[in-house]
Amino acid sequence: MNNRLLLLLALAGSTTAFGQVKQAKTKVYVIKADSIKAHVQPTMYGIFFEDINMAADGGVYAELVKNRSFEFGDNLMGWTVHQQNVGKGTVKVIDRTTERPENPHFITLDVTEGTYGLTNEGFRGMGIKQGENYSFSVLARQHASSKVKLLVELVDTKGTVIGHAELNPDDTNWKRYNVKFKATATVEKASLNVWGKHTGSIDLDMISLFPEHTWRNRPGGLRADLVQKLYDLKPGFLRFPGGCIVEGRDLTNRYQWKKSIGDIDKRENIINRWNTEFKHRLTTDYYQTFGLGFMEYFMTAEDIGADPLPILNCGMACQFNTGQLVPMDQLDPYLQDALDLIEFANGSTDTKWGKLRADLGHPKPFNLKLMGVGNEQWGEQYIERWKVFEKAIKSKYPYMKLVSSVGPDPDGSKFDFLNATLRGFHADILDEHYYRAPKWFLDNVKRYDNYDRKGPKIFAGEYAAQSVNGGSPDNKNNWQCAMSEAAFMTGLERNADVVNMASYAPLFAHVEGWQWTPDLIWFDNLRSYGTPNYYVQQQYSVNKGTDVVPITLNNETVTGQDGAFASAVLDGRTHELVIKFINTAKTAHQASFVVKGTKGLKPAGTVTTLQSDNLDAINSLTGDTVSPKKQSIATANNTIKLNLKPYSFSVIRVKLN
Ligand code: AHR
Repeated sequence: MNNRLLLLLALAGSTTAFGQVKQAKTKVYVIKADSIKAHVQPTMYGIFFEDINMAADGGVYAELVKNRSFEFGDNLMGWTVHQQNVGKGTVKVIDRTTERPENPHFITLDVTEGTYGLTNEGFRGMGIKQGENYSFSVLARQHASSKVKLLVELVDTKGTVIGHAELNPDDTNWKRYNVKFKATATVEKASLNVWGKHTGSIDLDMISLFPEHTWRNRPGGLRADLVQKLYDLKPGFLRFPGGCIVEGRDLTNRYQWKKSIGDIDKRENIINRWNTEFKHRLTTDYYQTFGLGFMEYFMTAEDIGADPLPILNCGMACQFNTGQLVPMDQLDPYLQDALDLIEFANGSTDTKWGKLRADLGHPKPFNLKLMGVGNEQWGEQYIERWKVFEKAIKSKYPYMKLVSSVGPDPDGSKFDFLNATLRGFHADILDEHYYRAPKWFLDNVKRYDNYDRKGPKIFAGEYAAQSVNGGSPDNKNNWQCAMSEAAFMTGLERNADVVNMASYAPLFAHVEGWQWTPDLIWFDNLRSYGTPNYYVQQQYSVNKGTDVVPITLNNETVTGQDGAFASAVLDGRTHELVIKFINTAKTAHQASFVVKGTKGLKPAGTVTTLQSDNLDAINSLTGDTVSPKKQSIATANNTIKLNLKPYSFSVIRVKLN
């Protein structure tokens, strides 16, 4: 449809964007383009990352071998020891805890006859792509007078070899050996054989297989398709490493950033706290190898243009689990971790931790400005610890803005206590979490309208509409949830002077390895897809603009009248007006957007729409049911007329004269 025809249809008051003629009464929305109410922070829409649902190991961290260093609770978990054709031998797990407490196990492969070895099953299999190169590596040590050769094979589920290579470890000291080979087939659930040939004994550790093609083709890097999805969100910040994983079920199980950097064989593996969290979704093979550690998080944030936001343990284990507390007089190591992290991120290369950053390949500082003190903590015990962290960090690094917990809920006694107390202490940023029903999101669109404009800024740090209820494994990323989040987000945007940051949670989920649902991006070993919720987040982020302007219906904000929710921003970089409009009604909504306070509108603009008549619609690995559709629209006399489909989220962009 050309612009002229669109214009005629628009002026006739019938339809435009959706080709649907409707005679409903037109609602007139007024936008005052010269009345800036707030600035939208560049950080406004960001990413919450946590290693839950196999987000890191088995997910974005592209390692294909599960339990590569034999450190899982059962040291041979993920491995099957056996012979090839005729072969005999043994595999023994060796403990060297005293010598290498951070990597206490390796195996000795004894081959006494023929070919003998072991097979790794991967994380729910290994996703292998035809024609791609794979890098195999291993730390090996031949026993005296042994000459065991290693034959490496990728095999499909029927045992057909789809890629192979050989290695000749030649040293009686530990040494890393690498070999590359091409895969001849695409297989979702391949496995890896590591055979020893020739009699003798060899020690093996860190048995690893990565695709050569990773994000930015970094060796031992991240899954390119998954990081691309993050990049496409154009996020303002990347929060890491969680989530409850920061706290641990107990303190020994907490996240310790210093153990997550440097050589990967020196990063101490621990059980993932989500391993046994939910009885209905036990994931007994879920561990953290920290191959995706703090250096990788900082670099990923930089790659995708996001401000880094690390969240650190403040001396408290998860209060939903053990709630272990570090006594106040023993907090120093925790505090030191926070101070050292700032030096690691920002310090000059003359400092201890700044030098380490440079030695790890990044002399340039990461420009860290934000840090979280604890995750979902609550009670007096949090405040006691928070005060110590706040004082120490602010006195050494006054420019740091601290994110503080107001507990796991958006209301109730825990929230009220922390909200009042932290406001009393002039906290910088309060981290609110809400996993609630879609109706809650619609009902709470005005939540921030009356927040203190001079008080702390708000970080809507974790939120997701729940189609069933929080914690239910039946929750779906359906259109009703996504649409209700879109409607609620008009309230975040309208209050951008108070709400400076927002992120959906959790981020990733493996279709076979998840513990928690709903999640923003789902994947299997080869593919991934964005949920309707993903596209909502993306539309807000890529259309965040720079300045909030009022949009009203009969002089009132648009917060659910006849199912309509709206917000408007100017984009100072492109000189455009951006209107976000959610029609949650089951009937079309005829709207006339009258733009005041401008010299005029360009005659044509665009509308990008997410829509489904089916509130239960979901996306899947085989295709999107709900995804953005962009069309041209026409304007006339500073007015945009649109017939907005039932159950739709529209983003209208028009250039101002
Ligand atoms: O997003 C999943 C979990 O929800 C986070 O780990 C925690 O902070 C919250 O309870």
